[in-house]
Amino acid sequence: MSDLNNILNSFKIKFSSVKDKDDLQNLKSEFFGKNGSISLQFKKMSSLNPEERKNFAKELNTIKDKLVSEIEKKFKDFESLEINQKLKDEKIDITLPIRSIQHGKIHPVSQVIDEISSIFSEVGFSVAEGPDVESEYNNFTALNTPEDHPARDMHDTFYLDKDKKTLLRTHTSPVQIRTMLNGKPPFKIIVPGRTYRCDSDQTHAPMFHQLEGLHIDKNITMGHLKGCLNYFIREFFEIKKIKMRFRPSHFPFTEPSAEVDIGYKIENGKIVIGEGDKWLEILGCGMVHPNVLKNTKVDPKKFQGFAFGMGIDRLAMLKYGINDLRAFFETDYRWLNHFGFDPLDVPTNYRGLSR
Ligand code: PHE
Repeated sequence: MSDLNNILNSFKIKFSSVKDKDDLQNLKSEFFGKNGSISLQFKKMSSLNPEERKNFAKELNTIKDKLVSEIEKKFKDFESLEINQKLKDEKIDITLPIRSIQHGKIHPVSQVIDEISSIFSEVGFSVAEGPDVESEYNNFTALNTPEDHPARDMHDTFYLDKDKKTLLRTHTSPVQIRTMLNGKPPFKIIVPGRTYRCDSDQTHAPMFHQLEGLHIDKNITMGHLKGCLNYFIREFFEIKKIKMRFRPSHFPFTEPSAEVDIGYKIENGKIVIGEGDKWLEILGCGMVHPNVLKNTKVDPKKFQGFAFGMGIDRLAMLKYGINDLRAFFETDYRWLNHFGFDPLDVPTNYRGLSR
């Protein structure tokens, strides 16, 4: 048998036992590598005479082409086998039920701050902020609060030093002072924020939230104050007609001062806001005292206006039927899950009653 036939036979035997790409690669080098059996045959050609060489070359090339094409075909077979296997392994089972998505809830206080801010921004108020740690001057003195006022007492206020110079702000009103000292009138701001008092029971926590309002301009009257608060209350509770009254009161930083009550009744054990013959106090307000304007370098002969302050937590409790204030700050996940708001679906968020 000629060399070429031997090579062909040995190829056939080895080729039939090739199991994978690696085997095939080895077989290829065995025949076509530098010292592979086919390559050696090509080298051998130079020793033949021209006639022999012609025939030999023809035969050798035919065999070479045959082997190469068989190797290539096998290679492709292995590749498609591999791809099919991969497709099979990586198949996604779309019939599996999805895992439920866990996401956080918006705290009722944050929700209500957002709602109130959008209601006031509709009528031109911008949002201002101030620090929780305040000077006694901004918190009391500049707000026209006398030295012997009970609010200045240690029982009511958390002082941070013995000299009573710094404290945790007892209301958001010091931001009135900061705003007026740092700018020029007119002013039209709301101030949401944390406030602190030595107090704790079912409806009082030592830390709570307030929202201050301040509107100073040349011709602002108590009528504007009433209109503004009436608009706010209607929008906030999403009730077109709501019973509301101004009750004379006293704050050192406003004159005249008033407290605002809204009407309510209890029906089937639940509170109904806006009607009925009971009254609920929801905020304090008044016309900014001329002394406060003087203390902040605003000329009370040219400018005047109103201020108000409300408890955010109480408003949240009222609107969303939550009856213990302390739970607001206990960071109990179950509570938050129940009373919190889904960030992707906030059905009660402010939409605007008047539009
Ligand atoms: N600062 C007052 C309080 O905490 C509320 C208030 C603000 C009253 C502005 C009048 C004007 O009770």
